[in-house]
Amino acid sequence: MTVRLTDVEQARSMLDQVVEETPLAHSRWLSTKTSTPVFLKCENLQRTGSFKIRGAYVRIARLNAAERSRGVVAASAGNHAQGVALAAQLLGCRATIVMPDGAALPKVQATLGYGAHVEFAGAGVTEALVRAQEIAEETGAVLIHPFDHTDILVGQGTVGLEILEQLPDVCTVVVPLGGGGLAAGISLLRDRRPDVRVVGVQAEDAAAYPGSLAEGRPVRGTMGPTMADGIAVAQPGLVPFEVIAEQLDEVVTVSEESMSQALIGLLERAKMLVEPSGAAGVAAILDRPDAFRGPIVSVLSGGNIDALVLLDVIRHGLSAAGRFMHLRVRFSDRPGSLMSLLSELAANGINVLDVAHDRSADSLGVREVEVAIEAATRGPDHRDAVRERLTGLGYDLR
Ligand SMILES: Cc1ncc(COP(=O)(O)O)c(C=O)c1O
Repeated sequence: MTVRLTDVEQARSMLDQVVEETPLAHSRWLSTKTSTPVFLKCENLQRTGSFKIRGAYVRIARLNAAERSRGVVAASAGNHAQGVALAAQLLGCRATIVMPDGAALPKVQATLGYGAHVEFAGAGVTEALVRAQEIAEETGAVLIHPFDHTDILVGQGTVGLEILEQLPDVCTVVVPLGGGGLAAGISLLRDRRPDVRVVGVQAEDAAAYPGSLAEGRPVRGTMGPTMADGIAVAQPGLVPFEVIAEQLDEVVTVSEESMSQALIGLLERAKMLVEPSGAAGVAAILDRPDAFRGPIVSVLSGGNIDALVLLDVIRHGLSAAGRFMHLRVRFSDRPGSLMSLLSELAANGINVLDVAHDRSADSLGVREVEVAIEAATRGPDHRDAVRERLTGLGYDLR
């Protein structure tokens, strides 16, 4: 079946009183970096904290009365879970969500808060999906796939319609890409504006689209660990794949460092709390500031991040940006040696955050100590200058 922008327009009329028309915020920070206007489409501020409510609502609203009476079932670790749970609640339909055993507590609580029944199964979403399929077979509940269905795609595509209205002269839309429902839906705006470029962004260690596009069909990609759980999908969906193969201009990948730095930039400069997947578009823009023709819109697709994960990501991003320094220094165990090192760091404007003093490691000599220091710096130049100064003074840096 061919999906068109008119299908997205129909979906839009269903979502009128249901979803927020999220703001399109100009970013002075990114516009300066790229020398072209950049705007942020803030789906992190959408109901349930991501765009997922759009597709889930359209899909469930289009079930017939008999299907709806049997309820719906979905598998998800987070955003799709919340989208399906709220959509089902609004439409008076029972929802069962299967979540992986270790799903983050705030996401479990939010899903329960929208009235869904939650079950746990398996270590990841793939195992949870197996259980969701079993539930669908046992109970007749309708399985709501996160991306591989036309109704999901046209629901997510309403983000693109809003962008066209909010910024009629948009030239490039940069979109985080997982299974492909969001990017495929948004790319339908090209029916009206074929001149707009749509760029999909995946996490470099979990990117199934580049290989699938090269093969001309969805194939499984290798999945390494990534902080961007929302866009780590092992195999594209057939429905979105066909649209993406035809409509997307480019799929790019970004590193973990780029995503964590983008997330910190969004927090510090744009005052936006975004999850790693939601920051992937900004990471791609920061990686190649000259690559995209403006005005550019970067879709901030979600803002659901566990405070503990946020701590880790911020630490990772600050390290990647050279604003954290980890030093391991060996010296002979004489009174005052540690104080001299710390005084040297203080004299160089380094703020020490943590010190671990080890005298017992196997590899240490009898009167030797190793000190591990974590410190905040003013940036990579400052960090490098201090390392150089310590080496010049004869410190044995590891
Ligand atoms: C925050 C966020 N961004 C992007 C995506 C990718 O969406 P899709 O699978 O439709 O490509 C997801 C999917 O869960 C997500 O949660």
